[in-house]
Amino acid sequence: MDLDLIRRVYGKGATVYDAVFGPLLERGRRMAVEAANATGARSVLEVGVGTGLSLPLYRADIKVTGIDLSPEMLARARKRAEDLPNVQDLHEMDAQAMSFADASFEAVVAMYVAAVVPNMTKLFQELRRVCVPGGHVIVVNHVAAETGLLGAFDRMVAPATRAMAIRSDLRLATVVETAGLDVAGIEDAGIGGYIKLIRFRNRPPGN
Ligand SMILES: C[S@@+](CC[C@H](N)C(=O)[O-])C[C@H]1O[C@@H](n2cnc3c(N)ncnc32)[C@H](O)[C@@H]1O
Repeated sequence: MDLDLIRRVYGKGATVYDAVFGPLLERGRRMAVEAANATGARSVLEVGVGTGLSLPLYRADIKVTGIDLSPEMLARARKRAEDLPNVQDLHEMDAQAMSFADASFEAVVAMYVAAVVPNMTKLFQELRRVCVPGGHVIVVNHVAAETGLLGAFDRMVAPATRAMAIRSDLRLATVVETAGLDVAGIEDAGIGGYIKLIRFRNRPPGN
């Protein structure tokens, strides 16, 4: 997967994204934002904000910044944010190489993006860098199904996930290892455990 392919896929998919992936991924999205709201963070960065389905869910006193690679997805997020004064900025930016200064945000949220970015190691390096030491990194993503029923679900949704450039073989242990962060909690976040919410705490630089 390269960035141009991702831009093309989400450029085309932006019109149908909410109908297909809105309700399907809603529980995890809600749980991730509730987790961010509960941290007490006053500034949140959401990477891969997409069409901004999550934006109305943030507490009104949290300043939210969003980034995404796809101008078409962002256009929808900007429309959604028109009535949300706490949504500060929505930038077109690669989550693997962000232009924000170190320690810019008290919490960073990545929903359903870990399995899309070309290089998850670079994604997490950047999440750690832009988050304050001791801050919160909240990730929600599907993980590779291990059991029969979920395996069947995996196969059922495979055409839709492939069409949106989403890798379906991401394992929970790989996400946790790659993150290089302290795990604060892991919870099922939908579709019988196929989606996981992972809450991390950021470490001080060099740790
Ligand atoms: C599956 S969608 C998830 C959208 C949204 N977070 C949600 O909950 O519905 C993945 C999003 O990640 C964005 N994305 C993929 N790679 C990215 C990157 N390297 N930097 C920023 N955004 C990226 C895509 O453009 C797309 O909007």
